[in-house]
Amino acid sequence: MKHSFTIALMLCLFFSCKKANNKTEVTRGLITKNAMVVSARAEASKIGNDILKQGGNAFDAMCATQLALAVAYPYAGNLGGGGFMVYRKANGEIGSIDFREKAPMAATKDMYLDENGDVIPEKSTLGAMAVGVPGSVAGVFEVHEKLGSLPIEAIITPVIELAKKGVVVTKKQEAKFKKYQPLFLKANKDSILFDLPWKAKDTIKYPKLANTLQRILKYGKDEFYKGETAKILAKFIQDNGGIITEEDLANYEAKWRTPTTFNYDDLKVISMAPPSSGGVCLAQIMKMLEPFNLENHGQNSLKTIQVITEAERRAYADRSYYLGDPDFANVPVETLIKEDYLNGRMADFSFEKATLSSHVSHGNIQVVESDETTHYSIVDQFGNAIAVTTTLNGAYGSKLYCSELGFFLNNEMDDFSSKPGTPNMFGLIGAEANKIEPQKRMLSSMTPTIVEKNGKLYMTLGTPGGSTIITSVLQTILNVHEFGMTMQDAVNAPRFHHQWLPDEIRMEPNKFNSKLVSELENLGYSINEEDSPIIGIVDGILVLDDNSYEGGADYRGDDTAVGF
Ligand code: DON
Repeated sequence: MKHSFTIALMLCLFFSCKKANNKTEVTRGLITKNAMVVSARAEASKIGNDILKQGGNAFDAMCATQLALAVAYPYAGNLGGGGFMVYRKANGEIGSIDFREKAPMAATKDMYLDENGDVIPEKSTLGAMAVGVPGSVAGVFEVHEKLGSLPIEAIITPVIELAKKGVVVTKKQEAKFKKYQPLFLKANKDSILFDLPWKAKDTIKYPKLANTLQRILKYGKDEFYKGETAKILAKFIQDNGGIITEEDLANYEAKWRTPTTFNYDDLKVISMAPPSSGGVCLAQIMKMLEPFNLENHGQNSLKTIQVITEAERRAYADRSYYLGDPDFANVPVETLIKEDYLNGRMADFSFEKATLSSHVSHGNIQVVESDETTHYSIVDQFGNAIAVTTTLNGAYGSKLYCSELGFFLNNEMDDFSSKPGTPNMFGLIGAEANKIEPQKRMLSSMTPTIVEKNGKLYMTLGTPGGSTIITSVLQTILNVHEFGMTMQDAVNAPRFHHQWLPDEIRMEPNKFNSKLVSELENLGYSINEEDSPIIGIVDGILVLDDNSYEGGADYRGDDTAVGF
């Protein structure tokens, strides 16, 4: 809602936050004058930042940060996964690249069903059958070739050094290794590096991954998709019962796509188009919210939570029916984000009572025919900005670890709709548009997003969190724009989520007061504070009035902003 900064920024932020949160403190993230990288690990942010300091641009830093996360953050950083990047150049030009995984050529619609047509537990989530053809290496090389400025040696060499030198285990990482060790044992024939009892402060070295990166540096993208690495990888996956072939790898290509854009007040939001549902759902939700005076209702107030929930409910119902890989299904993006269609969707909304999801289906339109991902945001000293969300899907992906190459493989196949109406690991339900087909990309919720204000770069942000990604990005943008928060406060603020089905508002536990929760329940909302200890790990950068940058690195992870 209309928000004009008429007094000095700090003062304004102070009062807005005081009003919204009933607290006087304002937390600020790192502030720098020239450039910044915010990512899930300090080591990766530092490597990206060093590239910028050497005179590289945001795209060079993207390549370095993506590869460094594959070393420092095996939980979600990856060579064996995929992702999306949205960018805005200093001259205002925008674009995006899709390096999402693809279904192997031998994939079939019913590959995860038994003879009774029921979904076979874990087949799409654990082990080799869950793996989609990885896209990250193709993404890095495509970005470097088209938009980078430094030689590739300058980008990959520090990452190889990091892999050789090793990375210190954090407390949060120690807990994650412990939690997933039973699944590592289940998914892998032999013991893997992460079966060891790693403790916080230990250093893990990655010599095999360093060798793989060394070969990639020497022979380029083809090493991963057609060279020795491809041969080892295809054989490894097949030896473990999977169906990815050398041909699948050789055929993989990243794809440039036009971002989904829309206006909200004086903002222009630039986000990822299908096969991500992020941009479309964010557009739908924000356009449904625009007529309401959220600023007056207040941040995380009863009315604000109600109206956001109802807009989310309707957008996720559309997601499940209409969205999929646009190379395979007809995805009516333009119609779905039209104002008159969205006004109609909210026509039955009332502050008096919750709408039941059983009463909400996808809209009728004329159709012409958990945090286990990771996000990083970068702005450079030239004014370019990028937002990248990348993933193995679940924590450590399929848990299948190729020891010879030194990396985990994704379980992205679970993002397809294995059976219409049956929820995937994020409880999301899909339909025809997202059925499994050979070489198709599975529908994603990843929402790397850049926001302009009055035609200028304003924010770059994103988050992991499966189905909750879209709503976490939404709330962070609203926290800054509607409620005047700093980037760090916007990231830190408690989050909630509704995704149509199951019909419940998921809330971060012990963050919302019990009176508010009872009021929502009295209006007919079902509240779930059990299942999501955290919702999203948002990393973002905000451009302040004096053109300096404020980083928001989420305390929910080990996320760190580094800049100069
Ligand atoms: O692309 C998607 O929507 C999912 N594969 C993202 C997975 C994710 O965010 C896991 N983190 N909780």
